[in-house]
Parts: sequence; C-alpha cells; structure tokens
Amino acid sequence: MTKKVIVNADVGKGTINKNIYGHFAEHLGRCIYEGFWVGEDSDIPNTNGIRNDVVEALRNLDIPVLRWPGGCFADEYHWKDGVGPRANRKRMVNTHWGGVIENNHFGTHEFYMLCELLDTEPYINGNVGSGTVQEMSEWVEYMTFNGESPMANWRKEHGKEEPWKLKYFGVGNENWGCGGNMRPQYYADLYRRFQTYVRNYGDNEIFRIAGGANVDDYNWTEVLMREAAHLMDGLSLHYYVHPGGFWNKGPATDFTEDVWDITMEKTLHIEELIEKHGTIMDKYDPEKRIAMIIDEWGAWYDVEPGTNPGFLYQQNTIRDALVAGVSLNIFNEHNDRVQMANIAQTINVIQSMILTDKEKMILTPTYHVFEMYKVHQDAERLNLNIETGSIKVGDKEIPQVSASASKAADGSVTITLCNLDKAESADLAIDLRGKDLENVSGRIITADEMDAHNTFDNPDNVKPEAFNDFQTNGSELTMRLPSKSVLSIRVK
Ligand code: AHR
Repeated sequence: MTKKVIVNADVGKGTINKNIYGHFAEHLGRCIYEGFWVGEDSDIPNTNGIRNDVVEALRNLDIPVLRWPGGCFADEYHWKDGVGPRANRKRMVNTHWGGVIENNHFGTHEFYMLCELLDTEPYINGNVGSGTVQEMSEWVEYMTFNGESPMANWRKEHGKEEPWKLKYFGVGNENWGCGGNMRPQYYADLYRRFQTYVRNYGDNEIFRIAGGANVDDYNWTEVLMREAAHLMDGLSLHYYVHPGGFWNKGPATDFTEDVWDITMEKTLHIEELIEKHGTIMDKYDPEKRIAMIIDEWGAWYDVEPGTNPGFLYQQNTIRDALVAGVSLNIFNEHNDRVQMANIAQTINVIQSMILTDKEKMILTPTYHVFEMYKVHQDAERLNLNIETGSIKVGDKEIPQVSASASKAADGSVTITLCNLDKAESADLAIDLRGKDLENVSGRIITADEMDAHNTFDNPDNVKPEAFNDFQTNGSELTMRLPSKSVLSIRVK
C-alpha cells in the first residue's frame, strides 16, 4: 500500500537550531588522542598537532558545536593540568576510561585551536563531581576575562593575549552517576552554587547547561526544574540505544533481524523521552525559554573484539545510518524544545563519524547521514503529515517510515526520509503543497546487508548515491524507498 506524506511548504513550524547537528569529543579511547590529536612531530599530516584529514572531513559536515572534554571524564578533569608548556604538563590516569595515561597534551588551548580549524562553537563541560567551585570559576576567568587578573595573566603567559569567547558551558555531567552519584536535590543545590561563579566577563555571555536526566528519570527533571530553572538556560538529557540492554549491548556487526528491529524500536523511544521530559519542563517553563540539550545520544554496542573494553571502539553500519537519520528527524520535529544535540562521539568512540587506524581514516555511514542532513541546519521546519505502515516488533508496532522537512534560506525544500524496515521497500506519495515540483534531486544511502559497513580496505562500501527513481505528477512525487535506507529529497 502506498504511504502518503503531506508537506506544507508554506506552513513553517519554527527554526531547526543548527546545534541539533552538534558533536561530542571526550578524552576516551582514541577519540582525542590518535583521532584528533597526533602531536606536531607526527608523520601524519597535521596543523599544530591536529590531524588535517579529519579536520577536512569534519569541515564538510558544518559542525555547529563541539562538546568537550567529557562525559564522565569531565568530572575528573582538572583543567590547570592541561595548560602551559606540554612537556611540563601533569600525567594522570584516565581512571574511568581504560586506566591509561593521560598526558594532558590536549587541553584548553588545543581545544580552541581545534574549534577554530573546524569553524565550530565550543561547548565546555566543567567538573562538579571532583572539582571545586574555585576551579570552575577560574577556568571561565582564564578563558574569557579581558584585563588584569591572575587567570587572564596566566593565559597571556601561555601565549594567548586576547580572551576567547565561550558560549556553552555545562555544569557537571551525569551527576546522578559517574559525575558523583548524587541525588537530584543535592545536585540541584550544587548546580545553583557552582553556576553562580560561572561569570559573564565583558560582553561574553554564557549559556549555562545543567546536568540532566538519564533516560526516563523524570524525577530528576522535575527536581531540577523546580529548584533551579531560573538559573539555567539549558537542561541536558542522555539517551543511548543499547539493543540488548546496557549490560548486554550486542555486537555492532553480525546481528540478527530481531536485533535490527529492536534497535529501530529503541531509537524511536527518544521521542517519548523528549515528550515526557518536555511536559515536565513545560510545567515550570511554559514559554520554553530553557533548551533541552540532548548532549549524548547514539547507538552503543559491544566493543570490537580484541580492543580495549574501556575504549568503546565499535564499527558503524547501515543500521547506524538509520539510527542517525531517525533520531535527527525526531529532533527536528521537536525544534520547539530541543535546541542542541551532540552525538557520541566524533571519532573512534561509540557511534562515530570517523574511524582511524594510524594514518588511515574512513568515513562511517553515520557521517554520510550527517552530511546529507546538514541542509536542515537553521532551516525553517515545515509542517509534515505522514501515514505510514507499521512494522511488528514483538507485541509492539513501530512506524515503517520516518520523515522531516525544512525550507532553507534560499527557498529550497529538503525532505529526509528513512525506511526502518530491514526487508520491505515502501511506496511513497509525497504531496508537496505550496512549492512547485521543479528541479527535484535526491541522494540515498542504503545497502543489501543489514550490517554493511566501511573498512580500511573497502572504505566506500556504504556511501550516498544519487537517487532519481521518482516520478512527478502535479504536486505529487512518488517513489519506492528501498528497505534500510535514508533518503534526502531536495526541491529547489
Ligand atoms: O559517551 C560515553 C559515556 O557515556 C560518557 O562519558 C558518559 O557521560 C556516558 O555515560
């Protein structure tokens, strides 16, 4: 049966914040070290220690914002260890992630340099779990104070005369877990206290993000909103898709059809979380001033056999392209509250854009989806209705097709569509109202195998291709969407 999609090109539903297409890079496994940072003396071509190949690839995604240094690492990170001459920087143990030596060669100055190379906005996450108010306060002073002060002077000694700009600052991470195992009342009080000393210096205005709930911990959101809403600009939410549950996640490749379906069902679950946490936020913030910041999301599987279990290195398949496409469609559709999302993590960790092996680098199917979707950044979301068939997953039914549409500043309309079915194609009739169906083009990413992926020997196995297999008739666009596919249709 043909599924009907109605897109009203003349009914705007507000801007899709470009920050929904944000990223996250932690001092975890080979994300920062080897992924971004190879050091100035490396044979791998680099700019002041940062790999040129990954910068070039990531610039093509127009990354709007990058979160750093964690994650769980953030609440163990002492920023003063990571400034000054590298040879003198303290070596510490990354106790949370693999117990490896952290030599602090990548610190604040290097992070800003990376953001400049990527032309992206920094989002820095401070330490509440094991840090002090003074330490957090001084970090902000170090980065943003313009004038005579102990921290500004120290920054200048390290070669940075002018302060940087800092917009996004997270006050702790997962403080219900690795960030201190706190109860919400306790963290709400600490949040109020710590954020007081996160100062706005000069014209630098900080957007303060409170550490939010894990998955469906609605009580956390309730308490934070009740006790501290007036002191925050954003509240985070973390959600990972673990097909077999947290303790038995399952492999990134070589999985069964049932596991494919469960992955899709768990991916769609983020919508319920956004709506339920959003309803609590609405109670205290009906004007929706406070942003929901989904600053960790993605599909998290078992590590690749033979790799360090603390490094969270996993492959990335066409299944992950669907996880990305469906999640981003959902974030777009909730643009009234969701103002930022940061997929975990950019390189070599969990659902990555890029995998590296020494001097080699490959792009993952997830990378390609971010590239195909980048036109949604800061575009006007369009009203969209979809009648889709469903897929049976156990005793539940999930929709077969996910969609989102937006209009860019140049007037072009983009519709992104995902077919979640592992085997069945979907016949679609898209009725585009309020825009002539001229100059239509499409790009698709799909594969025959459920776990099709790219390898260092076969880097282009899964990649987007032109899609012209559609017919136009008046305002209607009909097509057959292959199983396991993400499609982007552009109407100029
Ligand atoms: O992204 C990996 C880890 O997942 C982060 O460090 C932590 O915040 C979350 O539990």
